[in-house]
Amino acid sequence: MELNRRTVIAGAAAAGLAATTLGPGTAQAAVPGGKPVKHLFGRLADGTKVYRWSLANGGTRLKVLSYGGIVQSLEVPDRHGRHANVVAGFAGLDDYVASSPYFGALIGRYGNRIGKGRFTLDGTAYQLSVNDGENSLHGGAKGFDKHVWDVEPFTRGSDVGLRLYYTSVDGEMGYPGTLRSKVTYTLDRHGAWRIDYEATTNRATVVNLTSHVYWNLAGEGSGTIEDHELTIAASRYTPTDAGLIPTGELARVGGTPFDFRRAKPIGRDIRAGHVQQVQAKGYDHNWALDKGITAGPKHVATLRDPRSGRTLAIATDQPGLQFYSGNFLDGTLTGTGGRTYRQGDALCLETQHFPDSPNHANFPSTVLRPGQTYRTSTVHTFGT
Ligand code: BGC
Repeated sequence: MELNRRTVIAGAAAAGLAATTLGPGTAQAAVPGGKPVKHLFGRLADGTKVYRWSLANGGTRLKVLSYGGIVQSLEVPDRHGRHANVVAGFAGLDDYVASSPYFGALIGRYGNRIGKGRFTLDGTAYQLSVNDGENSLHGGAKGFDKHVWDVEPFTRGSDVGLRLYYTSVDGEMGYPGTLRSKVTYTLDRHGAWRIDYEATTNRATVVNLTSHVYWNLAGEGSGTIEDHELTIAASRYTPTDAGLIPTGELARVGGTPFDFRRAKPIGRDIRAGHVQQVQAKGYDHNWALDKGITAGPKHVATLRDPRSGRTLAIATDQPGLQFYSGNFLDGTLTGTGGRTYRQGDALCLETQHFPDSPNHANFPSTVLRPGQTYRTSTVHTFGT
């Protein structure tokens, strides 16, 4: 056994990998600030191996799957220094493949919905994979969340991280152009988690990548997020039709349940009966951030759990934030720690361009052309 381990480590070193590969079931925690550690997590039906990478820095511990770039676990301390996993997920690969509502996954090519899965670009009409009623959601039936990414670990100064690569071929899910994507997850020495997205194409296309982490700062499986306080720096949001496709209007949040400009418990107005909430079964909308598109990440939202004291501050360069209050969690999924998730047991804050932008000339453009590089960044900072 010891010999085997040495052989594997020597092999990895020979291959120039900044990581240690261990067999299934071998428990080894990542050392804070040290090299990411890789374990076999499971195999897909066709035998493809899926790995789980562990990395830690500045009090944050992160576990990432090569399948979908999924953040399977993210542990941060509470006000007493006690760590808890604050993201919803599953213990095993099979549940991710069979029934995940995008837990922790990278989303592509297009975050959120495109109406009827149709858009026209440079005079050509495209029909995308439709997987949410008549609409296309999160890239279609087999989005970036359902592919195995190539993962490359790194350490750089006091940062540790992973670079994830996936190439989506021309026509995949109906999208034009071969899209080469690179996503970098970095943990800095203060425990902040940064995501940098990059993509290039060989034909004009649309792109809107995001991360679909479900947060519960009191700890995954601990109950509702309705007592979490949320602030969103946005005076407007994009109302939707019954299929959750934006109507194109940029409505004012003032005087509505959608006003989170000052910290407010999520549960305070969630049952206010506003028609937009009734059709979404809660909050499931894009907030048009007041700062608009910025050259670098700017603070746009803060989430705080009063019980644990944990806080999450989000900074992004993107123009929109989709706040989804876990409305479709219905008690049928059993999470990482063995407890079921019910409605509102976790929430998503997805930094992105507006849903259905390819069909709304008044929304910021999501078009990417050959020769251009799509680049966006989001930073998650944890505190107590
Ligand atoms: C969408 C929800 C959807 C969820 C995933 C969110 O980004 O806005 O409508 O149900 O993702 O299941």
